Amino acid sequence: MECVYTGKTKDVYSLENGNYLLKFKDDVTGENGVFDPGANTVGLTIEGAGKAGLRLSKFLFEILRDKGVPTHYIDANIEEATMTVKPAKVFGNGLEVICRYRAVGSFLRRYGMYAKEEQPLDALVEFTLKDDSRQDPPITEDALVMLGILSSEEYKAIKDLTKKIAGIVKDELAKKGIELYDIKFEFGRVGKDKQIALIDEISGGNMRAYKDGKSIEPLLLEKLMLED
Ligand SMILES: Nc1ncnc2c1ncn2[C@@H]1O[C@H](COP(=O)(O)OP(=O)(O)OP(=O)(O)O)[C@@H](O)[C@H]1O
Ligand SMILES: [Mg+2]
Repeated sequence: MECVYTGKTKDVYSLENGNYLLKFKDDVTGENGVFDPGANTVGLTIEGAGKAGLRLSKFLFEILRDKGVPTHYIDANIEEATMTVKPAKVFGNGLEVICRYRAVGSFLRRYGMYAKEEQPLDALVEFTLKDDSRQDPPITEDALVMLGILSSEEYKAIKDLTKKIAGIVKDELAKKGIELYDIKFEFGRVGKDKQIALIDEISGGNMRAYKDGKSIEPLLLEKLMLED
């Protein structure tokens, strides 16, 4: 098993049969010990965070599979904190696609002149470049196409898929009385036909969730979502 990438919260291994193995670590993004899904640094290490993130990812990826949504997911081993996935080619050096239902985080920092904190947003989709040295800058469709990162058709497909998947996650959280404020996805091209599919993870570390007006940390979110 060859390690092909060491990420902030996961390591990526290449398996002999060509699939990838994602190993979930206990590192969480944030700053100075405070969780922030939008941060580009590891802010804290929480024992059990890796397995908890994997359990929620497994739960949500299997719901998406049942609904016929294309993803990289094959299966997960909670004990080992690993997920087996189909290898994907990312767009450029990687994109993050955010779906927003309420104005918080970087959206509020950027548009604070107009946006009120926590104001409702109607599944607003934003694309950002994965570029830690430039703080993951937001990018428009025109710039993505002009820079050759993706085509207009691919942009539209990713945007539609983002709204669909975020809606499914939002509904799952709502069943537990939890409100999804925003969520971040990654997409790639998978397989011979280069189908656009959801990759990476869908865990507490990639979303902001609130219950009774209070923000819930990833570990608590995963506990609330997976207990009966
Ligand atoms: N199916 C896949 N094929 C190829 N690469 C993948 C696949 N799924 C996830 N990845 C990549 O694996 C890496 C996982 O690492 P990790 O989640 O630690 O993120 P990172 O890139 O360090 O940064 P960030 O925390 O900003 O997401 C990411 O670069 C992600 O794009
Ligand atoms: Mg990541």
